[in-house]
Amino acid sequence: MSAIEPFDTVDLIRTKRDKGKLSTAEVSWLVDAYTRGYVADEQMAAMAMAILLNGMDREEVRDLTLAMIATGERLSFDGLSRPTADKHSTGGVGDKITLPLAPLVASFGVAVPQLSGRGLGHTGGTLDKLESIPGWKANLSNEQMRNQLESVGAAICAAGSGLAPADKKLYALRDITGTVESIPLIASSIMSKKIAEGTSVLVLDVKFGSGAFMKDLKRAKELAKTMVALGTDAGVKTSALLTNMNVPLGLAIGNANEVRESVEVLAGGGPADVVELTLTLAREMLSGAGQPDADVEKALKSGQAMDTWRAMIQAQGGDPDGPLPRAKESRQVLADRDGVLVEMQALPFGIAAWRLGAGRARKEDPVIHSAGIDLNVKPGASVKKGDLLFTLSADEPERFDRALAALEGAYRIADNGTPLANTDPLIADHITAA
Ligand code: URA
Repeated sequence: MSAIEPFDTVDLIRTKRDKGKLSTAEVSWLVDAYTRGYVADEQMAAMAMAILLNGMDREEVRDLTLAMIATGERLSFDGLSRPTADKHSTGGVGDKITLPLAPLVASFGVAVPQLSGRGLGHTGGTLDKLESIPGWKANLSNEQMRNQLESVGAAICAAGSGLAPADKKLYALRDITGTVESIPLIASSIMSKKIAEGTSVLVLDVKFGSGAFMKDLKRAKELAKTMVALGTDAGVKTSALLTNMNVPLGLAIGNANEVRESVEVLAGGGPADVVELTLTLAREMLSGAGQPDADVEKALKSGQAMDTWRAMIQAQGGDPDGPLPRAKESRQVLADRDGVLVEMQALPFGIAAWRLGAGRARKEDPVIHSAGIDLNVKPGASVKKGDLLFTLSADEPERFDRALAALEGAYRIADNGTPLANTDPLIADHITAA
């Protein structure tokens, strides 16, 4: 005999359609009933659209997040000898920050359980980048992860399918119904997985700009505030930085080349923007974990963070000294005039790297680890005609034309002037619990 359901789905859809408020019991039933297949996809699609159009208040977003967490497993790091701190980035072009950041923070005795994903579309995935390293494996059981956190301090691995399965189903539905861009839905989707992961400190890197999910700072700020409130309500010490994604981060866009750049940062060098963001996020995570005075800059210069990186890679079967793949073919793009580089838009560079093979169009596609773009200059640089601007790399030369097509109009050299994308600072704001 089937159980009697306590609500009628259509009543709940009507409530949200008419700008009403859903109760805790209604939200938790809806999410559970959708996950077990009682609420149909078309009903949930109508609900997602009503939420996108009419929003949700703080209690409803909290209820939605908790209901999604309740559909799956919840990890716990209780009993670890180290405090835990995690970071989540909403994703951008050239965003390899997790790679130097996790070992840097772990080198201060904090456990960094970094459950990561693979890339889809123009933003890269942390696991794809690390899989450029010979032998490195993304899959760890919960027990292996716990052991690695205890012994090394940092583990970057694939998120199992057990965390918030309702989110997985709902995200796939949002993707095909034009309902991805709703702040309550994005915030609950991200935070359900992060809270279920069981960290005690969470630092969010919420990106804004052409290469980000949120194009403008105002909406990015609203998303950040919503997520910080959700984390705080769930007992996680949560804060957020709003960071600029109008230009690619660093000089490398791809997989193996982003690992190379991360290792430069761990060796005390690397591009200024990658170093600044790594240091700022590390300070924020360590301060949340009770070490506000940790000298993170020194830990990069002294090799302390590099030692943890090497141990972290080796613990997952990787060879930190192994050769990273190099593409068979490359194509240089040169300045066609003297002047100042005033613009370099993140989104087209992300699309071009993807077309070179660095990203995937469908979940099941492989990525080509050696493919990508290496920038030689960033906005603000003075260039002379014939100077190298950037180099494209791919295994198949047929890929260059489509990548170059994506880059038409994506960068600009002017006689003089202020670089457009540099008018926003790299770190535009810092949000803490209200
Ligand atoms: N990432 C997620 O996990 N969920 C969203 O809704 C958007 C980005």
